[in-house]
This record gives sequence, C-alpha cells and structure tokens, in this order.
Amino acid sequence: MSNDPGKNQEDEDRMHEFTTLSGADTIEVGRQLVRVLKPPQLLILRGDLGTGKTTLVKGIAQALDAAEADEVTSPTFTLIHEYGEGRVYHVDLYRLDEPREVATLGLEEIFDRDSMVLIEWGERFPRLLPANRTEIRIRPVGEDEREIEVRQT
Ligand SMILES: Nc1ncnc2c1ncn2[C@@H]1O[C@H](COP(=O)(O)OP(=O)(O)OP(=O)(O)O)[C@@H](O)[C@H]1O
Ligand SMILES: [Mg+2]
Repeated sequence: MSNDPGKNQEDEDRMHEFTTLSGADTIEVGRQLVRVLKPPQLLILRGDLGTGKTTLVKGIAQALDAAEADEVTSPTFTLIHEYGEGRVYHVDLYRLDEPREVATLGLEEIFDRDSMVLIEWGERFPRLLPANRTEIRIRPVGEDEREIEVRQT
C-alpha cells in the first residue's frame, strides 16, 4: 500500500491516492481513511463491478467498531445494510433504475443521522444525494492491483 498525495497544495488538502495489491490491502486503506473521514460523512464509492467497493467498506466498518470485516456483505439485493446501531450504513443502488425507486428508500432520514453512509453506484442518482459528499474511485490496474482516489467535494 502506498500513499501518494496530490501534486500541489490544493490537491493535497482535498485528495488522497492509494495503490493496493490485494483485498486485504484495500481493507487496510478503509481503516486508514477513517482517521481523516470522520462521521457524519457521505461517501460515494465509484468503480466497476468487482473492483473492491464493498471490500473498502469492510475496513471502514471495522475501524468504526461497527462490524468485523467478514460480517460486511454486499447489499446488492437488500439495498441497505446497517452496522453498529446506525454508525455505518452501506447502500448499493446497482439494482435500481428509477430515481423514484431510490426515493422510497428513505435515504434522507439516514443522511440526517451522525452516521458514516457509504453508497455504491450512487453517482447514478446525483440529484438525490447531498452535494456535500466525498467520492472514492477505485480503478483496476492489474488483476489484483487497484488505484484508489479519494476526493472531497
Ligand atoms: N486490491 C484489491 N482491492 C480490493 N479487492 C480486491 C483487490 N484485489 C483483489 N480483490 C478482490 O476483488 C473482489 C472485489 O469485490 P467487491 O465485492 O469488494 O467489489 P465491488 O466493487 O463491491 O463490486 P460490486 O459492484 O459487484 O458490488 C474481491 O473478491 C476481492 O478479494
Ligand atoms: Mg459491492
């Protein structure tokens, strides 16, 4: 795992970059991120299928004492998983197509809590999510190598 902050001062304040070589590495990045990204916080996790979004959530939930890494599973079908009595909410909007379907989930209520809210495929519904959010992009580089870019907007 390497931490390569942005090139100039402004980037350094707002952006962090990591390279990971395994799922375990990405869990560790999730653990480290909690040091800088404190709840309440909305994180949009971006990246293709199977790149490691849910894997990153494992580290974040673990570092917040909300769940063990292997208790964190994909909410693809259940849509929302709650860990640690509301300290962490993990949402996956992959299976939803219409904004009105997302509107029925009651996400506004979750945003009003002091929680860490992690949303996979949230960028598909930008108007339904608060503007004050952090985006994490995960890009596959090799079979097990990933670039993880964290940008606070
Ligand atoms: N460097 C890495 N970082 C994260 N995961 C990795 C890495 N290398 C290999 N993997 C594997 O890739 C898979 C990532 O799966 P994960 O469920 O986290 O992806 P996802 O982005 O949430 O996918 P989906 O969009 O389907 O929900 C896991 O099997 C993990 O072990
Ligand atoms: Mg996932």
